[in-house]
Amino acid sequence: MAKVKKVDVTLCVGCGLCEQSCPEVFKMEDGVAKIKVATCSSHNVKEVAEQCPVQAIVTED
Ligand code: F3S
Repeated sequence: MAKVKKVDVTLCVGCGLCEQSCPEVFKMEDGVAKIKVATCSSHNVKEVAEQCPVQAIVTED
């Protein structure tokens, strides 16, 4: 299962899509996304990362 390695906060524009898609993993804080846990039980985090408009979410297998 893919894991979220990090959110590059220098790229994140705070659109909030990742938190909307997977609140189990992502949490908005100070206008950027933070990681709560690395994996999600109901989503492939790679697909969530692909939806980020600025590719700020780094994942690993
Ligand atoms: Fe930031 Fe991308 Fe999420 S811009 S809030 S990491 S979808």
